[in-house]
Amino acid sequence: MLKTHTCGQLTAADIGATVTLAGWVHRRRDHGGLVFVDMRDRWGLTQVVFHPEHSIAAHQTARELRNEYVIQVTGKVGRRPAGTENPRLPTGEIEVLIDALVIHNASLTPPFYINEDVEVDEALRLKYRYLDLRRSRMQETIILRHRTVKYIRDFLDAEGFLEIETPILIKSSPEGARDYLVPSRLYPGKFYALPQSPQQLKQLLMVAGYEKYFQIARCFRDEDQRADRQPEFTQLDLEMSWVDQEDILDLTERLFTGLVKAVRPDMEMLTPFPRLTYRESMLKYGTDKPDLRFGMEIADVSELVRESEFEVFRSVLRDGGVVRGFAATGCAGYSRRQLDELQDLSRSYGARGVVTMALGTAEQAGGSMGSLEMTDVRSAAARFCTIEQVRAIAGEITGHPGDLLLLVAGPRTVAENALGQLRAEMGRRLYLAKPNVLAMGFVVDFPLLEWNAGENRWEPSHHMFTAPQPADLPLLETAPEHVRAQNYDLVCNGYELGSGSIRIHSRELQERVLRLLGYSPEHQVEGFGHLLEAFEYGAPPHGGIAPGIDRLVMLLAETTNIREVIAFPKNQSAVDVMTDSPSLVADQQLRDLHLAVRQPERGPG
Ligand code: AMO
Repeated sequence: MLKTHTCGQLTAADIGATVTLAGWVHRRRDHGGLVFVDMRDRWGLTQVVFHPEHSIAAHQTARELRNEYVIQVTGKVGRRPAGTENPRLPTGEIEVLIDALVIHNASLTPPFYINEDVEVDEALRLKYRYLDLRRSRMQETIILRHRTVKYIRDFLDAEGFLEIETPILIKSSPEGARDYLVPSRLYPGKFYALPQSPQQLKQLLMVAGYEKYFQIARCFRDEDQRADRQPEFTQLDLEMSWVDQEDILDLTERLFTGLVKAVRPDMEMLTPFPRLTYRESMLKYGTDKPDLRFGMEIADVSELVRESEFEVFRSVLRDGGVVRGFAATGCAGYSRRQLDELQDLSRSYGARGVVTMALGTAEQAGGSMGSLEMTDVRSAAARFCTIEQVRAIAGEITGHPGDLLLLVAGPRTVAENALGQLRAEMGRRLYLAKPNVLAMGFVVDFPLLEWNAGENRWEPSHHMFTAPQPADLPLLETAPEHVRAQNYDLVCNGYELGSGSIRIHSRELQERVLRLLGYSPEHQVEGFGHLLEAFEYGAPPHGGIAPGIDRLVMLLAETTNIREVIAFPKNQSAVDVMTDSPSLVADQQLRDLHLAVRQPERGPG
């Protein structure tokens, strides 16, 4: 090695030792006489000192040093003069007096500060990602990610799981998103696909008798980018035989509880993980990925306002809609402008608006609802409601004097979505969504199918390999909308962290479900023949789950941007700006692949 110690290692115990360090110039201070350099490597910082009377040559060269130069130094560890110690650094008691300095490489001035945790434009960070990755915050995240994956591997190994790799070149399969395709050179016109997930392969590993499989699996999906999505991402993919839903949930809960304790012991975690049905989650939180860090639960007040004179409520209820709402704690004093913002927000999510009811003033907080009169209630609906109705609504959604009731009337799905968004917004505004708290939970009992109105057909709400709940099997052909699936989502802080299900393991049931999804017998064989056939050779009951590693680390790192936890991510337009990919390829490459690129058609003008 070119170094005897790391830059994070030396302490007072090493005083007197001769050491060699290698690393980067983090900061240089030239005091005319003495030159001080903070040297940096992955492990930390060490102060090294160049003294003109100690080594003229080293001191001379040290004056040329600039930030990010790559250097190697040899010298003697000494105690820092009294009053100059740095208690924030593990190496803060010592410095190294340098005898010899080698510059291994110079550096241009970096396009942004590496030695300071300042905001830098993300496009610039991505273009110079290798410099961005040098910054301490990124290093901490990358190390956190390593620890996370290491913990998962050790935990599952101890539980008897085998890590098995599955291919990256697989058969294209209609599993939800668009596939990334890889043209075959040997078979003109034919394509491999990159896996959206190893779903079918892990099921085949169960048929093959491995019983407990996992993989830190790379997945590829050509879909629209979002803050929590990447075109390629990593799953902890796992599958087990002989299990029911509760076995998978139990394993997942033990894994994540232990993981957080191990890698982020300072973070607060709520245990045991609550289990909510899909319907419950949609009612109380307006989403299937609820943020369980705070209450402010939504409730249905349709029955309480059915008789009110307020036309907004009446007409919606007449048309079969619902009136639901929640109480924003302590927000009775919201200004007109703040209320308008909530109106705009609710409209941007498809609602006609939000009916607000300010219950008294902030000063009345702590009092009882019985002490409020109608004159204390500020609302567009006030003229049409009695105080009894307001009290009943407040009772249903646990609103108190000092609170702001937010009510949305509309078709059920519209009201759910708008209220879910309003609740999330109020959680942020009231600082209830604390980044250092992880509130994990399971959402269960999703419907097996969703109606795709645009294409006039049923779609699986998870995927087509998910088993229906046995009790609902008789409804499969007669009332498919009422069939619940044996599937579950792991949710955390408003994100879907993982998804899984108990799988179909009989050919007959798999064919029934595929038929319902509109697959002709030929298409079933063409798309899934290998799986259907495998089910005829002794397939055991099995199920699994796949939490997203990137999203997990994102939450552990307390960020909301998935790119922060990936060493070399794509930007929001799915471009790698560092290497400029995707890029054009040579004509010969295209010819080898039997491909011709059609020029995009030009519009008029
Ligand atoms: P699903 O498609 O729900 O299930 O994905 C599981 C988890 O993978 C993560 N994830 C993503 N992360 C980043 N970028 C993306 N584009 C992206 N898409 C998904 C999420 C998500 O919860 N084979 C099934 C799992 C199973 O049934 O066992 C599957 O892939 O965290």
